[in-house]
Amino acid sequence: MNMKVRYAGIELAHPIIAASAGTTMDAPEAVKCEDAGFSAVVLKSVQEEVIMRYNPFPRFKVLRSGIPGYESCTFYSYEQAYYGGIEEYAETVRKSKERTSIPIIASINCIQPETWAKYAVACEQAGADAVEIVPSCPSGLLVRDPSNDGHAIAVQALKDCKAAVKIPVIPKMSGQVANVLHTATCLDQAGADGLTMLNRATGIEIDIDAMRPILHGGVAGHGGSWALNAVLRWIIVTAPKVRATISATGGVMTGEDVIKCLLAGAQTTQIAAVVYLKGYKYVQTMLEQIRRYMERHELENLADIIGVAGKNFLSMEQYDRVTRYVSECDPEKCTGCRKCENVCIYDAISLKSGKCEIDPQKCDGCGLCPSVCRVGAIQIHPKEA
Ligand SMILES: Cc1cc2nc3c(=O)[nH]c(=O)nc-3n(C[C@H](O)[C@H](O)[C@H](O)COP(=O)(O)O)c2cc1C
Ligand code: SF4
Ligand code: SF4
Repeated sequence: MNMKVRYAGIELAHPIIAASAGTTMDAPEAVKCEDAGFSAVVLKSVQEEVIMRYNPFPRFKVLRSGIPGYESCTFYSYEQAYYGGIEEYAETVRKSKERTSIPIIASINCIQPETWAKYAVACEQAGADAVEIVPSCPSGLLVRDPSNDGHAIAVQALKDCKAAVKIPVIPKMSGQVANVLHTATCLDQAGADGLTMLNRATGIEIDIDAMRPILHGGVAGHGGSWALNAVLRWIIVTAPKVRATISATGGVMTGEDVIKCLLAGAQTTQIAAVVYLKGYKYVQTMLEQIRRYMERHELENLADIIGVAGKNFLSMEQYDRVTRYVSECDPEKCTGCRKCENVCIYDAISLKSGKCEIDPQKCDGCGLCPSVCRVGAIQIHPKEA
């Protein structure tokens, strides 16, 4: 079974990379990532602006939200950049290279336009295998300058770095630009070796009793498994249009999520939140889930699935708007919990003798009730003509 992939010209043993975060702060963390089984490490980003190197405390919170019975979780954080300047960072790159044998990707985030190339050169000289440039960082220029949508900074920073270094340069993109596909294709044309899609979004959580934003009182990064769908959506349309290889980041929490990213067209994935919440070694659980998928599909080479879902991606004009569906309930399985009855806005469901009954005349075939039934009592199928 072969899980090898190529990303930004670098061969990796498998597609799970440790994303830039506190979990990749310095050489000891890079060693932890290699020991746990990651295929590469993106080191914590170094920030040009000194204040961004100091964390406020506390800075993490797991938010549980949603409608009762449909809860979701958000990993909310305001963690600042690498603790030092570019000289210390170069030392971190050097030590990480010395102490590990997996690829080490540096990560830089600058304020002044002329600094990007200098930082990239310092990382290259320190031995980094590639450099990720992070104009998408929500704490950086995007918030300070409301006239800036991140697009122009990303393209210029990439051009400057490409002119200055020989190692692969990988922009880490924001999902908070006007059109992700437009920015991705511009970055590709400007020479991006890889595209990391998409950095966490910036948000706010409010304490309704204190009447203020929680924790440090300002904006924070937020993510969760719910973030994955937007990542897949942009990758599936971007992958066929760019030469650069893609690393998916945002909401990847399981081996199955990695598979989805590859099917959409990414070569690799980068994970952070799940490493905080489940530990470094959780990467082994994810790899085992990928192995089981490969067995189930009799896949010899994982790379063979890259982009396959993209080929099955339909445009709006191609959707089947003709075939009608109807739901049916198996009374043997039904426990009479009424969840389905509550969600049917077409009044097609009623409970008879404690069991769900669906009126095929009223059923619109919308598909909601089978997805809320926890015991699998409802099946939906095409209506017979
Ligand atoms: C606590 C925390 C700190 C992060 N710090 C950085 C950073 O310094 N540079 C960066 O490019 N991304 C940073 N990220 C973003 C991650 O690298 C990753 O792309 C993002 O969290 C989406 O992946 P996830 O859903 O697996 O967390 C950070 C994420 C978290 C959760
Ligand atoms: S949700 Fe499922 S178990 Fe509950 S009443 Fe409907 S069919 Fe029965
Ligand atoms: S499929 Fe939709 S319309 Fe039909 S019974 Fe279920 S919820 Fe109602």
